[in-house]
Amino acid sequence: MSLFTFDIHAQSGSARAASYITAHGSFQTPMFMPVGTHATVKGLTVEHLHQLKAQVVLANTYHLYMRPGVEVIEAAGGVHKFMNYDGPMLTDSGGFQLFSLDKMMKISSEGVRFHAYDYDGSKHFWTPETNMDIQQRIGADICMQLDQCIGYPAEKSQVAASTKLSWEWARRCAYAHTRPDQALFGIVQGGMHRDLRLESIKQLVDVHNDARRDGFAGFGGFGIGGYSVGEPHDVMFQTLGDVCAAMPADKPRYLMGVGNPTTLVRAVRVGVDMFDCVLPTRTGRMGTAFSSTGRMNMRNACYTRDFSPLDATCSCWVCQNHTRAYIRHLVKQGEMLGGILLSMHNIHFLINLMARAREAICADAYEDFYEEWMHSPAANDY
Ligand code: GUN
Ligand code: ZN
Repeated sequence: MSLFTFDIHAQSGSARAASYITAHGSFQTPMFMPVGTHATVKGLTVEHLHQLKAQVVLANTYHLYMRPGVEVIEAAGGVHKFMNYDGPMLTDSGGFQLFSLDKMMKISSEGVRFHAYDYDGSKHFWTPETNMDIQQRIGADICMQLDQCIGYPAEKSQVAASTKLSWEWARRCAYAHTRPDQALFGIVQGGMHRDLRLESIKQLVDVHNDARRDGFAGFGGFGIGGYSVGEPHDVMFQTLGDVCAAMPADKPRYLMGVGNPTTLVRAVRVGVDMFDCVLPTRTGRMGTAFSSTGRMNMRNACYTRDFSPLDATCSCWVCQNHTRAYIRHLVKQGEMLGGILLSMHNIHFLINLMARAREAICADAYEDFYEEWMHSPAANDY
């Protein structure tokens, strides 16, 4: 089958089990992607990533553009060669990072001007076209359109304006993207407003169809952006189901920046296929472990003499080889191995959770899987 084929193997309710083909191999959904912002999943070697069965590794265009710079990555032969990772990779456009630079950027319909104050303070101007050029040169298997992600709360008029800008930029990205071995994903915006979300989807589908008519590849999938931006937890689920139902069924749906285990289980149920988040690695570095009984703070004194594994039900390398007491000791001591082991375990936890979700979908038993999770002690732990 050809590149970027999204093949749905099974469905259970609205949940889907599918595969997606990239130039660096195929991946199976639903799935979680570990985040390697600076072309490294913090603390982990590529050998670890293979052992953890990471299927796609995410990197970030803004950060790589600032350092080491696109020229260096290009000279290395692309991001895969640069970091010696030969599996599927995805770059986020960097739009999201720019908007967290806040007042250091100025947006117009043409593009976004910004001061990289978190690097050297240098000034830059990105358009959808220059962003596509950068992502094509970085060379991940999937790239994301340049978009504007608005925070919460926000005036509806502002959300509407940024949603419109995002679909206008989606069109310019679709007509600037020409690399045949790389898929471009559009990004649905619209904040917490159902009508804006549905309009965003309609516009993206129009862009896709127009681009194909004009000889471009169009979108290989769709991101769902603009959630997890500070809204109360359940607010996303007031619209996420309708958003997924309105999205093209024959393309992957990627909920961006969401990594809470229970949120993954719930989002798969309404039709999401892909996730990414810094949560497992960031909280791991802070001393937190995911587990089948909820999150554990490994600094807690109750683990001092606890010689059991982090999670008795976990099959990861860390749980086969180390104890809670040892990991607590590493974390308390500020030893870097503590954060590394917890990152490995937490990534395994989410990857394995999605593998189990996939099994349940293939057995047409996702509702049972969902109910079991929601009644487990891990479920009310956000
Ligand atoms: N990561 C999390 N949310 C978003 C979003 O809305 N847009 C982009 N580009 N990346 C994200
Ligand atoms: Zn484990």
